Amino acid sequence: MAAPVVDAEYLKEIEKARRDLRALIASKNCAPIMLRLAWHDAGTYDVNTKTGGPNGSIRHEEEYTHGSNAGLKIAIDLCEAVKVKHPKITYADLYQLAGVVAVEVTGGPTVDFVPGRRDSSVCPKEGRLPDAKQGAPHLRDIFYRMGLSDKDIVALSGGHTLGRAHPERSGFEGAWTNEPLKFDNSYFVELLKGETEGLLKLPTDRALLEDPAFRHYVELYAKDEDLFFKDYAESHKKLSELGFAPRRTGSATKADVKTSTVLAQSAFGVVVAAGVVILSYLYEASRRSK
Ligand code: HEM
Repeated sequence: MAAPVVDAEYLKEIEKARRDLRALIASKNCAPIMLRLAWHDAGTYDVNTKTGGPNGSIRHEEEYTHGSNAGLKIAIDLCEAVKVKHPKITYADLYQLAGVVAVEVTGGPTVDFVPGRRDSSVCPKEGRLPDAKQGAPHLRDIFYRMGLSDKDIVALSGGHTLGRAHPERSGFEGAWTNEPLKFDNSYFVELLKGETEGLLKLPTDRALLEDPAFRHYVELYAKDEDLFFKDYAESHKKLSELGFAPRRTGSATKADVKTSTVLAQSAFGVVVAAGVVILSYLYEASRRSK
């Protein structure tokens, strides 16, 4: 398990990879499947055993051949082209960065990205991701296991504003919205409209309408896109950081650089103050000796 050293050089590579991902996603129109890859790598997290999570393990055949991951090899291969150019970056960081960029380039909110995830070769057992044929209790079982809340469940489900289902992958067919390459709140607007010709509703989507606690958020997000963007960005960041504690020592994240600048400024202040005290003491002493 290689531990990435988040130093200035690593941060530079992340910024370059971010640009490469923007270009790749724009040229291939692959934002939806990139977002799905990030979510399926992260969504295996178990808060009790601290296993699974955004650790790049989905790159292994053992995991990407799980039924729920059908089709995701396409996204894994697309990311590999970026990994080859930036080998220092872990798969775990790369997949989460791809998810963040996918949301950004399709018009969604900016999701704060903190690098430093480690790669793992330990694949979780099949069955940790949600089953679209089930209802609200199942959604809660799965997302509470990750340590996420009802609000996270609804906000993150809004990710279905992008993309579509493919019969040969999931057995379902069609898009949730009329513009599946645009990230907006239309998933919730369409959900409240009920059955609309040509648009998809999974049983798990319907569960968001039937459960009063979930429905509360569906109605809020359909009415207020700014609120959806704010909550989505928070929930997406949480999902992308499950089981990951950004390291603060021995590495130079942006926050660390800021902290050390503040510390340096304070230290400078102390030195100046001490100098002033010493000088006035010397001045006083020299006056008295005259
Ligand atoms: C709440 C439980 C969820 C269930 C049951 C579920 C289920 C599904 C299913 C069945 C598909 C169709 C796959 C295919 O046939 O290609 C799909 C696609 C997709 N899901 Fe989810 N999903 C869930 C949550 C999420 C979350 C949290 C996100 C991201 C934040 C997400 C993002 C996507 C995207 C972007 C696609 C489209 C992929 C493409 O166009 O290739 N999903 N999901």
